[in-house]
Amino acid sequence: MTSVLSRPSETVPRNPTRRHYVMCPPTHFAVEYAINPWMTPGAAVDLDLAFAQWDTLRRTYVELGHEVTVVEPVPGLPDMVYAANGATVAGGIVYGAMFRYAERVPEAAAYRLALAAAGLTRFAEPTFVNEGEGDLLVAGEVVLAGSGFRTDPRAHVEAARVLRRPVLGLELVDPRYYHLDTAVTVLSDTEIAYLPGAFAPRSRGVLAGRYPAAVIASAEDAAVLGLNAVSDGRHVVLPSAAAGLAAEYADRGFSPVGVDLSELLKGGGGPKCCTLEVRA
Ligand code: ARG
Repeated sequence: MTSVLSRPSETVPRNPTRRHYVMCPPTHFAVEYAINPWMTPGAAVDLDLAFAQWDTLRRTYVELGHEVTVVEPVPGLPDMVYAANGATVAGGIVYGAMFRYAERVPEAAAYRLALAAAGLTRFAEPTFVNEGEGDLLVAGEVVLAGSGFRTDPRAHVEAARVLRRPVLGLELVDPRYYHLDTAVTVLSDTEIAYLPGAFAPRSRGVLAGRYPAAVIASAEDAAVLGLNAVSDGRHVVLPSAAAGLAAEYADRGFSPVGVDLSELLKGGGGPKCCTLEVRA
């Protein structure tokens, strides 16, 4: 007889909560420069397919009961589709982004304006480079904060003050996983999935200590950006190619929802990159 405890799906109630997401359509998406190893400048992009895939992601959220605010894309900003980088919003406070590379710098102001237009006027100006929710992941009462490629560790301290939450700094070491949201999925307030190899040894220790029961991603699932995913506490929207992660989530009582964003992967992004969560 199987023990009930070996079947977490039957014992852990998974209660989704309604979320508010900000997205930006890939109207001006292109791969024109390379600021991460996924990008090959001049790579052929099928814009119609990119839009269709992006819109499937948007409709997936709406069908799951979430609110989606769509912001106006700005010509000349091909990476603006990766809305997660536009800011970090918690407790109704917008901690502004400051991009590492010149090509993306103007996106910060565009997202600031778009969020203000959506009623989010409590804005904290950043002093240090930080790429929004790409590197600052709100996980319950803490913020998991990445550094190593984009976000300056001094921005972690600033984020803690502005967002009034303790921050757990994590150092990324693999250039393929240049933003924290490519190496960690926040599944619930207390649960995460991650790729240990993406982190410096000390940060691996921090993660293992705080999340002893975390889902450990395989190299294969991470390599399709499987960790670049969005959870509402029950449904985990992730790249459909990440089969191992989806099976593990189902085992734990989550409902994995696969989406294919192959065109946007050419810029180095997946579902989470295209999604900025507004936390009231
Ligand atoms: N091409 C973009 C960059 O390198 C992709 C950003 C992906 N966003 C993310 N949240 N990981 O900046």
